[in-house]
Amino acid sequence: MASLQIKTRWEESGSGIVCQAILDALPHWFGIPASVAEYVAVADRSPSVIASAEGRDIGITTLVRHSPYAAEVFVMGVLPEYHRKGVGWAMLRAVEASLARSGVEFLQVKTLSPSKDDIGYEETRSFYLAYGFRPLEEFPLLWDSENPALQMIKTVPNAPRW
Ligand SMILES: CC(C)(COP(=O)(O)OP(=O)(O)OC[C@H]1O[C@@H](n2cnc3c(N)ncnc32)[C@H](O)[C@@H]1OP(=O)(O)O)[C@@H](O)C(=O)NCCC(=O)NCCS
Repeated sequence: MASLQIKTRWEESGSGIVCQAILDALPHWFGIPASVAEYVAVADRSPSVIASAEGRDIGITTLVRHSPYAAEVFVMGVLPEYHRKGVGWAMLRAVEASLARSGVEFLQVKTLSPSKDDIGYEETRSFYLAYGFRPLEEFPLLWDSENPALQMIKTVPNAPRW
């Protein structure tokens, strides 16, 4: 079978609609309406990398810059029928290439901690680990006591030293 032809593009803002459509297709990960509303609002005002294939948008990765040196993957999702086809990695590679050009050295993501049993998020952590993120610290109450957060980080390749 031919491999999927994935395109990525950078959008400075205005990606709320794409974000909403993709998160709506991932209810296991994005089932809390207030959280989804926040992700959509942030995607609307922040930079995102959008992945497309077969004539439609199939993935989004939205970024928040915390300092000249550090950024965060604030939300990320790929339509379920396109999982495990390299879309997630393609978006992260595009994210890192852009961050490196603007001098960002460190990239973090927060996801559900393994201290809460959840098969879906176990897969999410495997994805981040395989890409090169490493667990840094757990924040048990950052979101709420039912959803302990795990902060993972990695260095951005080819970022210039300050
Ligand atoms: C996490 C997510 C963005 C990954 O995107 P993806 O396009 O499916 O991932 P890729 O195809 O680029 O995966 C690359 C590699 O990561 C690892 N990986 C990805 N998904 C995995 C899974 N479910 N289980 C174990 N390893 C996984 C593998 O090493 C994989 O390579 P391989 O398929 O050759 O073995 C996507 O699965 C998703 O939308 N999940 C639901 C939402 C979510 O978890 N968002 C993040 C919330 S913090």
